[in-house]
Amino acid sequence: MNKRPIGIFDSGIGGLTVVKAIKRLLPREDIIYLGDTARLPYGTKSTDAIIQFSRENTNFLLSRNVKFIVIACYSSTSVALDTIQQASPVPVIGVIEPGVRRALKLTRTGRIGVIGTALTIYSGAYERAFRKFSDSCEILGRACPLFVPLVEEGWLDHPATELIARTYLESLKEDGIDTLLLGCTHYPLLLAQIKKVMGDINYVDASNEVASELAKQFAERGLENLDGNGNVAIYLTDLSMNFKEIGERFLGEPMNTFSRISLREFRLGS
Ligand code: DGL
Repeated sequence: MNKRPIGIFDSGIGGLTVVKAIKRLLPREDIIYLGDTARLPYGTKSTDAIIQFSRENTNFLLSRNVKFIVIACYSSTSVALDTIQQASPVPVIGVIEPGVRRALKLTRTGRIGVIGTALTIYSGAYERAFRKFSDSCEILGRACPLFVPLVEEGWLDHPATELIARTYLESLKEDGIDTLLLGCTHYPLLLAQIKKVMGDINYVDASNEVASELAKQFAERGLENLDGNGNVAIYLTDLSMNFKEIGERFLGEPMNTFSRISLREFRLGS
C-alpha cells in the first residue's frame, strides 16, 4: 500500500504549489497530479457543478490506484470535501483545515482575514472550519475573483494588480486583522502586492501545512514510501495556452512531463 502514489487534484495548475511543498517534505513519494484545466475556473461556478467535477477527478485518481487523496483546490475543498471523504475508499484531506490551524497558532488578537474565490468565501467553509477549533476568533472574508486571472496573465508585479489588490483589501486592513489566510492556490504568487496593502501582519499559505499534515497522517497510518523515486506525473484535461509557463511559475522548476487526458469515462450524469 505504501508504494502507491499520492493523488492530488486541482481545478488547474495552481495546485502545483502543494505538489512543490509535498515534494520538499516527502521526496520519495510518487505523485499523480490532475489539473482540470478544461473546466477551470472552479471559483466562479456553482456548488453542484464543483461537487460533480470533484467526484469525477477523484474517480480518475482512484483508477490510478492512489493511496491517499489531497484536494489542492480551495474552491473544491470548500464545497466538496465532505462528499469526497464519504465516497472515497482511501483517506482524503483538503487545504482549508491545515491553514486554519496555522492561523489560530499565529493570531494574537483573534481577528483573522480570509481571501479566496467567490465560491470559497460565500460557501462559509472557512467560518465552519474555524468554529471547530475556536468560538472566540472573528473571521473576516473577502472574495478576490480577479486575482486568479491576474496570476495566470503573469501580472504579479503590475500597477493594475496593485490597484486591484488595494480595492479588494483596503477594508480588510481597516478591520484591523492581524493574520491573513491566502485561501486560493494562486494568491501566494501575489504575496508581495498583498503585503504592500496589508503591511506587517501574519500570512498563511497552507501548502506547507498540508504537506506536514500528510507526513503526520502517513506516519500514523504507516503509509510512507521510503524507497520510491519521487516521480510526479502531471495529467491535465486541456493543454490550454501558456499552461507550461504558468505551471512552472507554481512548481518552481521545469515541467517536462505532462499528459492530456479525458475524464469522459469518469463522467457522472449528463
Ligand atoms: N484552484 C482554485 C482555488 O484554489 C483557483 C482557480 C479556480 O477558480 O479554479 O480556489
